[in-house]
Amino acid sequence: MNVQWYPGHMTKAKRQMQEDIKLIDLIIELVDARVPLSSRNPDIDELGKNKARLILLNKADLADERQNEAWKNFFQAKGFFVVKVDSRSGAGMKAIQAAISEACKEKTERDRKRGIKNRPIRAMVVGIPNVGKSTFINTFAGKACAKTGNRPGVTKGKQWIKLNKSVELLDTPGILWPKFEDQEVGMRLAYVGSIKDDILNMEELSLNLIDFLRQYYPGVLERRYQISEEGKPVEVLEAIARARGCLKKGEELDYAKASGILFDDFRSGKIGRITLEWVKE
Ligand code: G4P
Repeated sequence: MNVQWYPGHMTKAKRQMQEDIKLIDLIIELVDARVPLSSRNPDIDELGKNKARLILLNKADLADERQNEAWKNFFQAKGFFVVKVDSRSGAGMKAIQAAISEACKEKTERDRKRGIKNRPIRAMVVGIPNVGKSTFINTFAGKACAKTGNRPGVTKGKQWIKLNKSVELLDTPGILWPKFEDQEVGMRLAYVGSIKDDILNMEELSLNLIDFLRQYYPGVLERRYQISEEGKPVEVLEAIARARGCLKKGEELDYAKASGILFDDFRSGKIGRITLEWVKE
């Protein structure tokens, strides 16, 4: 988790992805349902052109269900197949199989016309760090799945997980690099915990989060901490600090600790199911 990216990393990841994409029919791209745009890297659209595309709105359990639906429609309108999933609990896994068949229908049809039968669909999972790729592969593939060996000449050095008769998954996910150039993107990834906390000013971020929550999800802070949401964001943080007994020596309020609590509660869904990026209507 929390991989630090440098230009060298990105070049290497991109080259690896270009190689792997040659081997597959379908790209299964994971995005974080709470920040579906910031957790994507649109470079994958160029890298994966001519491939079947499936987007998984992962961590859907932590995101607002109305927004999950809105994002599903948004990506479907752009031509992607979309499934909402919770890779930790396994919710949504059944729907994926149907989506894979649907997304690869053309390929299967082409094979059939050429008289090729039972050639499995090959897929790979891609996404930015911490979006849930390993969790998804473990849950989706399960423990019962046998790994197939190398395919001589074709996929040297690659391991495939045989999901069933018709689908094989590359066992190592492709890592996409976040779009750090955009500061807003960096901030949103920090909110959801996909960027190292210690390089950021968490107290300042928590004030932004408070502002957002009050505007888009009024009442959630009040309910969680039994505080008033009125006043400046810093006053709300102060109220959270008081409510949770965050004190330094000498009765001084510990804002850093209060922001830590706020972020833990937000990231684990204790404040509620919250989506930070809303579909523009
Ligand atoms: P990566 O391979 O893409 O880097 O991500 P990874 O699977 O390691 O998942 C990153 C974190 O996100 C993990 O939490 C994982 O449990 C959590 N996660 C993945 N998918 C989902 C999901 O659909 N819903 C929820 N709520 N969480 C999900 P962690 O705190 O790093 O580890 P752990 O506490 O789960 O062990």
